[in-house]
Amino acid sequence: MTYPSSEALQTWLEIATEAALAGGEVLRQYWGNLSEIAEKGRSGDLVTEADRAAEAAVMAVLLRHLPKDHGFLAEESGRQGNRQSPILWAIDPLDGTTNYTHQYPCCAVSIGLLWEGEPILGVVFNPIHQELFRAAQGLGATLNRRPIQVSTTSQLAQSLLVTGFAYDRRETQDNNYAEFCQFTHLTQGVRRGGSAAVDLAYVACGRLDGYWERGLSVWDIAAGIVLVREAGGQVTAYQGSPLEIETGRLLATNGLIHRAMVEVLSQVQPLAFTPIPLSDPLSL
Ligand code: IPD
Ligand code: CA
Ligand code: CA
Repeated sequence: MTYPSSEALQTWLEIATEAALAGGEVLRQYWGNLSEIAEKGRSGDLVTEADRAAEAAVMAVLLRHLPKDHGFLAEESGRQGNRQSPILWAIDPLDGTTNYTHQYPCCAVSIGLLWEGEPILGVVFNPIHQELFRAAQGLGATLNRRPIQVSTTSQLAQSLLVTGFAYDRRETQDNNYAEFCQFTHLTQGVRRGGSAAVDLAYVACGRLDGYWERGLSVWDIAAGIVLVREAGGQVTAYQGSPLEIETGRLLATNGLIHRAMVEVLSQVQPLAFTPIPLSDPLSL
């Protein structure tokens, strides 16, 4: 198999869009109507019938229209298709499940395409706000079919950032608390969106200037990485070196504040954090 032509990318972008819209429709139907909310093992890592139904809707469209030799990795159902293919679709049917269960409208269907491990196409759809973000390598990035670009903020002091905290934050010192404090101190603010896909999409369209996070999975970020790069931004490892997506740790910015963020991330030390012992542990 050779690297996909721009015609192929364009066709696959339309198929991924149809799949994201189908998944989004399912998420709209279950919005405020959930009867099943379960934990997936780690405390706080939720799954609902909406996650599963949206994934089934997304996969049905992808499998119906895409070539049979593609590989797939979906959050709830795992691997299927050709494991030897240089092409891997990474699907998160509901990124921001915690927000979704609280009807906090920051969530999305995220569909990314990787070529030999490199993200090259992405669709992120927030069905509650009806915002459709799309991008493919060399074809630019759009929001509701209009071109988007990253912000022009060049000073960390003028920037608005976003981050997140992984589900293992109570079990590791690498919990992002120190980074959060440092950037809160140095910037106009740090938001915690609760959906990595939406966080990256917001950097791509310039609502936010930078995003960093650890403990992510490929389905959380594959699509969003393409959005940021195609909108003119930069995505790397924390140290500014080339991104290795499987580390689950990334820095995405408008490019202009990238060096400053690398500098902070390279110096930060874990915070000595002692949780308050509550008198009633059940209230946790
Ligand atoms: C989560 C969201 C969140 C991030 C977590 C992810 P989920 O995905 O992207 O913003 O902080 O690390 O796991 O569980 O809602 O699909
Ligand atoms: Ca996710
Ligand atoms: Ca998910």
